[in-house]
Parts: sequence; structure tokens; C-alpha cells
Amino acid sequence: MAETASFLVSSNPSPTLPQNITTIRTIAESPGLTSIPSAYTFTPTPHDQVVSETQVSLPVIDYSLLTSGTPHQRSKIVHDLGKACQNWGFFLMINHGVPESLVRSMIDGCRGFFDLPEEEKEEYRGKHVLDPIRCGTSFNASVEKVFFWKDFLKILSHPVFHSPSKPAGFSETSLEYSKRAREVARELLKGISESLGLDPNYIEKALNLEQGLQVIAANFYPPCPQPELAMGMPSHSDHGLLTFLIHNGISGLQVQHKGKWVNINGIPNSILVNIGDHLEILSNGKYRSVLHRAMVNNKATRISIAIAHGPSLDTVVSPAPELLEIEKKAAAYIGIKYKEYLEIHQSNKLDEKCNLDRLRI
Ligand code: OGA
Ligand code: NI
Repeated sequence: MAETASFLVSSNPSPTLPQNITTIRTIAESPGLTSIPSAYTFTPTPHDQVVSETQVSLPVIDYSLLTSGTPHQRSKIVHDLGKACQNWGFFLMINHGVPESLVRSMIDGCRGFFDLPEEEKEEYRGKHVLDPIRCGTSFNASVEKVFFWKDFLKILSHPVFHSPSKPAGFSETSLEYSKRAREVARELLKGISESLGLDPNYIEKALNLEQGLQVIAANFYPPCPQPELAMGMPSHSDHGLLTFLIHNGISGLQVQHKGKWVNINGIPNSILVNIGDHLEILSNGKYRSVLHRAMVNNKATRISIAIAHGPSLDTVVSPAPELLEIEKKAAAYIGIKYKEYLEIHQSNKLDEKCNLDRLRI
């Protein structure tokens, strides 16, 4: 939900969005489009970067074992969770109990929003980063040199729930999805606290999750006639503690693992989970907020929905003193108020992990 890589150098020194274009959907749907506007061209192309040929599989975490496994199963899954956070920063979560139909309605609802006539989305367009409902194109078109082939919708869903009033039914669906996701995230964070050798409620209490921020970020990537030249979302890490990603079955996500980009394909009914910057900080770098990016294709629209779970906005996040004590280590990051971090993170260009780098000691 945040991020731009050093290889993303614009071929166009001072691009402007093609006139009157406020969404990528409008560009993608222009009749007879065979090449992309230069403002969307990355040089060298993102595809020059090494993509691992070998089929690597993400760790799979069976959520049901955390909540209803035997004590032995639970301690095994807590251990596996810790390993997944440490080695990958990403995992596939199965048996999470969020109904498949709810996930589908959520994706359909977001598609419905992106398909609304432009004038109906106007009231939510491009305002302040912490505005409760905000839509737009690319990531931060006012500071970017090259634009990303995507439109987005960002909604704050906790501590206060917000939703656009259209399309019909979307508000109910997103309320239900955000509640279910939040329950699952808090339960996972208990297991993650334990995996760090801390009390299961440590993260919940230290970061005031009762008032925790939850942000829904929906991404819309229409087909692109020159997918090898464009980028859906540049290399970035997410803010917050845990992000859940669901999508409409069209692939495009790549994750950095051991210095290479790996294509990620989910498994049916799973939710992709990743560690955010603030869990990296809290764990003093033991658990990693890993770089990832989204590619585009020339065949089908990809819709993805990332839901980020963070501390309360006024929480200062720093490495857990109890953990430093256990591990006999010095703090590797300075503390920062979550709200302050978010303002930097969201108003920047999506710039790799530069936000986190600033906090490294
Ligand atoms: C995000 C994100 C990836 C995708 O929204 O933070 O990483 O596949 N999305 O859309
Ligand atoms: Ni992300």
C-alpha cells in the first residue's frame, strides 16, 4: 500500500497526465488503444529485473489450528507462523473462516465502484492522505514522474467505519468484511506475539489495537496494450502490522525473496497475508516487511483488495523492550508515531523501503 524502485527511471522528464484523464480506466477503454501514453512508460522496464524461474511456494498457515487446534497443534502453528514471518514476510492463510461469498461480494463491490460514472466518484477524488474515503489514479500523481497503470479506492474502516454510498450494498459488504478481517488479524497477532516469546496479548495492548487503524485499499488494473512497459504498482512495503490481500483470480503480484522476484499465485479460498513495516519495527527487524509489486497484463482486468491492520494512530511504535531483553539486542529502529509515519509514507512517492530506512539506527 505504499512505494518506487531505483530502476523505475522515467523516460519522460516532466510527464503530465494526458488531458482530462482522471482514471486509468478511461485510458484503457479508449477505442483502438495499441500503445500506452509515454507518461506510463518505465525505462528500463520492470521486466529487466530477475524473476525467479523456479516454482517456489509460500508458507501455508492453517488459521483454524490457532483458534481450535489442540495445544500441541497450536504451538506448532505458532512456530510455523514465526518462521513464515522471519523467512518470507508473506504467507497464505487457509481455513480463516471468512466466507468465500463475502470475499466475492467484496471484489464485485469494488469493481462496481470503479465502474461508476466518473462524476459519481468525483467527491472522493485526490484529497488528504488520511481522508476517510479517497479515490484516484496511480499512487500519488502529484509527485510521481511516471504513472502506474491502476486506479485505487482507499477507505478507513476502523476505528470509525466509512464507506462510499455506491454501489448499492457495498457499505454492508465492506463493513462485514472489515469486521471479519479484523478479528482474524487480531488472532494472528496473538500467535505472532507468542512466536516472539511475548505474552499473547502483548501486541494487542502495546499498540492499542482496540482503537487500531484499518485501511481498505482496492486496486483496479485494466488490461494494458504494452504490459511489458508499464507497472501496476511499484516495489514497496506496506505500513502497519498485517495486510490481507484478496483478488479476482488474475495473477500479477510479485514478492521479493532472497534477492529475486517471485510470482505469487494463491490457492483457492486462501488469503495472502504479509508483514507490514510496523511489525518489522516492533520485532526489531526479526520479522520482515518485504518488498512486493504488481505487474499488469494485456488480457484481463485485475482487481485486488489489500486491507491493512495497524496500531492506533497515536501509538508510538518502537522495538519491543521485552523482546530486546529476551534477545539481548540493542534497538535497531527509532520509535515513531504511527500517524506521523503514515503521513510521510502516503505523501511520498512509493519509494521502496525508504520510509523504514529513515528509522534504522
Ligand atoms: C497493496 C499491494 C498488490 C496487488 O495494495 O499494498 O501490494 O497485487 N497490492 O495489487
Ligand atoms: Ni502492498
